[in-house]
Amino acid sequence: MPLKIIDYGSKEYKQMVELRRQILRKPLGLDFTPEDLEKEKNDLLIAAYEDDQMLGCCMLTQVEPDTVRLRQMAVKAGLQGKGIGRVLMQFAENIARDRGNKKLTMHARKSAAGFYEKLGYQLTGEEFTEVTIPHYIMEKYL
Ligand SMILES: CC(C)(COP(=O)(O)OP(=O)(O)OC[C@H]1O[C@@H](n2cnc3c(N)ncnc32)[C@H](O)[C@@H]1OP(=O)(O)O)[C@@H](O)C(=O)NCCC(=O)NCCS
Repeated sequence: MPLKIIDYGSKEYKQMVELRRQILRKPLGLDFTPEDLEKEKNDLLIAAYEDDQMLGCCMLTQVEPDTVRLRQMAVKAGLQGKGIGRVLMQFAENIARDRGNKKLTMHARKSAAGFYEKLGYQLTGEEFTEVTIPHYIMEKYL
């Protein structure tokens, strides 16, 4: 399963936005605004592929000199629970580490917290609401 870093605005980026729309926004009755997408032009965009099909994706945003934030982690419907998310996370962590980061942090959906716990992430702080659903801050020292 090839993993790729993709360019903002590219054909692959459009595929990524569509995958994220289907998995992360439509089930909540939400969508991205042009302003949401504009904000991610400096992020590191990561995708897992099989041939031309995007299987999953995530993004890293540099939030402090030694800390990145994981965002928009999504695996295609019907392919979840097959190890794709784990491989994407390992790739993202390796890139973050190679770039000198010491910590990875995220706003994790409560429904996905068990996934991140299996990969060594810890809950910090209280539950809060984002995009209408419960989240926790989770983090891991790389
Ligand atoms: C959450 C998500 C990214 C995980 O990716 P995935 O490819 O389905 O996960 P994997 O198959 O790599 O799972 C790795 C391990 O975590 C477990 N796991 C996966 N999703 C889980 C969940 N939601 N809760 C608890 N455990 C989970 C798997 O059972 C597996 O455990 P094992 O190693 O003991 O077999 C994916 O299911 C998804 O896109 N979900 C919908 C969108 C979402 O919630 N995104 C996260 C936003 S913060």
